[in-house]
Amino acid sequence: MSSRRFAKVLPAFAGILPAAMFVAGCQGQMRDQISYRAQESPLPVPASAVAQNDEEVNLDYPMEVTGGPANPYGNPSKAILTLGKRKYEAQCGSCHGLGGNGNGAVGSALLIPPYNLQQPMYKAMSEGQWYLRITNGHPFGPGIEPIMPKYQKKLTIKERWALVSYVKRELIK
Ligand code: HEC
Repeated sequence: MSSRRFAKVLPAFAGILPAAMFVAGCQGQMRDQISYRAQESPLPVPASAVAQNDEEVNLDYPMEVTGGPANPYGNPSKAILTLGKRKYEAQCGSCHGLGGNGNGAVGSALLIPPYNLQQPMYKAMSEGQWYLRITNGHPFGPGIEPIMPKYQKKLTIKERWALVSYVKRELIK
C-alpha cells in the first residue's frame, strides 16, 4: 500500500478499534451483574442493611425470609419514640385503633378489617419487617392497590423508623 492510500484508510481503523474494544469490554461486565430476572425472587435484604433511600426496599420482598433492614435508630431516643407515637396516631390509628387492636373508626367500615396488631405474630415480627410492611403496604397481588396503604411517600424514612420504634417498643411490646 502506498503511504498516501494508507493515510486515507487509517482514520477508518482509528474509529473502529476503540468501538470494538468498547463493545467487547462492556458485554462481559453488564451480563455478569448481580440482578434478578422476571419471575425470579429478589435477593433478600441482608440483616445488616440500613435503608438510606426508598429504592433499597423492594415491593416484592418476601418478609418471612430474613429480619429485613436494621433499625438505624438502634436504641431510639425519647424524641424518636414521641415522633413515632404522633405518626402512628395520625396515620394508623384510624384503621388499626390507637391501641393497635384493629378497631379504628375507618377500619370498621372496610371490607377486609385491619388486623389486630396486638397479636403474637406482629409482636414476633422484627423491626425490619415492620419497616418494610409500612413502606410497601400489603399488596394483594401484582397491580392491585393494597387496602393497607403504602407509606413510602407519605412518611419519611426517619418517620417510618420512628413509627416502628414506637410500635415495637411501646405499643405492642
Ligand atoms: C385504610 C386503613 C388502614 C390504615 C390507615 C393502615 N392500615 Fe394497616 N392494614 C389495613 C388492612 C385492611 C390490613 C389487612 C389487610 C391486608 O393485609 O391487606 C392491614 C394490615 C396491616 C399489617 C399486617 C400486614 C401483614 O402482612 O400481615 C400491619 C403490620 C399494618 N397493617 C400496620 C399498619 C401501620 C403501622 C399503619 C400506619 C402507618 C397502618 N397499618 C395503616 C388497613 C390500614
